[in-house]
Amino acid sequence: MGEVAKIRIEGKDLELPTIVGTENEKAVDISALRAQTGYITIDEGFVNTGSTQSAICFLDGEQGILRYRGYPIEELCEKCDFVEVSYLLMYGELPNAQQLEHFRSSLRRHTMLHEDMRMFYNGFPRDAHPMAILSSVVGALSTFYQDSLDPKNPQEVEMSIFRLMAKLPTIAALSHKKSIGQPFMYPKNSLEYVENFLYMMFAVPSEDYQLDSDFVEALNLLFIVHADHEQNCSTSTVRMVGSSDANLFASISAGICALWGPLHGGANQACVEMLEAIKADGGNSKKYIDMAKDKKSGFRLMGFGHRVYKNYDPRATIIKRTCDKLLKKLKIKDPIFDIAQELEQAALSDPYFIERKLYPNVDFYSGIIYRAMGFPVEMFTVLFALGRLPGWIAHWREMQMSPSKKIARPRQIYNGPAKRSFIPLHERK
Ligand code: SDX
Repeated sequence: MGEVAKIRIEGKDLELPTIVGTENEKAVDISALRAQTGYITIDEGFVNTGSTQSAICFLDGEQGILRYRGYPIEELCEKCDFVEVSYLLMYGELPNAQQLEHFRSSLRRHTMLHEDMRMFYNGFPRDAHPMAILSSVVGALSTFYQDSLDPKNPQEVEMSIFRLMAKLPTIAALSHKKSIGQPFMYPKNSLEYVENFLYMMFAVPSEDYQLDSDFVEALNLLFIVHADHEQNCSTSTVRMVGSSDANLFASISAGICALWGPLHGGANQACVEMLEAIKADGGNSKKYIDMAKDKKSGFRLMGFGHRVYKNYDPRATIIKRTCDKLLKKLKIKDPIFDIAQELEQAALSDPYFIERKLYPNVDFYSGIIYRAMGFPVEMFTVLFALGRLPGWIAHWREMQMSPSKKIARPRQIYNGPAKRSFIPLHERK
């Protein structure tokens, strides 16, 4: 029998069971609390509240550890490509050769969009943000693929997974081509997943496209480090929407919207825009660090801080190393990379950041690599979504297959007006 949490409320003693995870994380199970005491708990932003038990991702914010299905992220970056890691996240085990080839060929067969879907893009303004396009078109997939919407039908779920994994790069690349007025490049199924995406993004019909192996390697690694991160805001959104038995396309579309926020996935775009502003302002990092420390300014160092990591984000370590390597290989001297390093050094020696355990997170250096590869800043969060897709799908699947699945419906404490009489219009002041 594990530990019990004893609480006394209004003179009544209550014992609540506890749960201990694989890595010794501990939780008090409060599912009996309201029935036995009439009390609920409140925890703004769920800082101390777990929504579920999950076998997909483990992270230790104090130690800076991140593992997918038990495998350290560093090892997966070194030994796998993004498709193999996607399989691991969604199905729970590293695929054998036959499973991996079947998965790769299944994705290849679904890379094209229904031709009528291309009409959607004519309706968007040229300067539409690609995250708005992504969430709209992903939601619309449910109108074209009505044969694979039932979350309780394993074959239909499998088909939706193939369609989403295969089509999201196509949808993303098309939003970019639309924004620059270039013709859409159909996917080439002779290319691997990341190669195909780079081809659809940067190739033009009038010339042969030369894939850069450094770019392919860097983007595979960036997608892997973005692939999952336990119950973050967008993944929790996907679970919340999916818990109503909404189809996978609708759930992922909601996750894309949540990721867009600058406090979440939108931080990679906001971070590069911040670094650009510092550069335009003469590279005065200290001014911006002082602003970030001044609550009245409302300014935050984008790409810094994390709800869980109170140590260096292990993904930022990997991304920074890749950034350095790529810039050196491409012989790019990007002043904002220098500013980012200066900012990091200054912040990490400043008591304000040290006391609050604020370190660079996954979004701090990723935008610099994306820029070096030629992606426009508006596409940065789209790239985060492409990486996070297998994680979202893995959590949606885990939730759907859970025998204890319930629709997510938090409680609240009402603090509005007590009961009062109606005031007819002519009596209102
Ligand atoms: C992602 O959850 C995930 O796993 C997310 C993610 C994933 O893979 O899914 O890792 C991806 O979203 C990374 C985070 C990207 N966002 C940013 O870089 C935006 C800037 N960072 C923050 O706004 C903030 O750090 C959060 C949103 C990331 C975390 O916010 P919390 O946990 O709610 O912390 P908080 O806002 O309560 O901050 C604690 C203190 C506050 O100061 P005090 O009130 O205690 O004096 O730290 C300060 C904050 O003001 N603070 C910052 C800061 N981040 C926190 N001060 C200056 N600059 C910052 N970036």
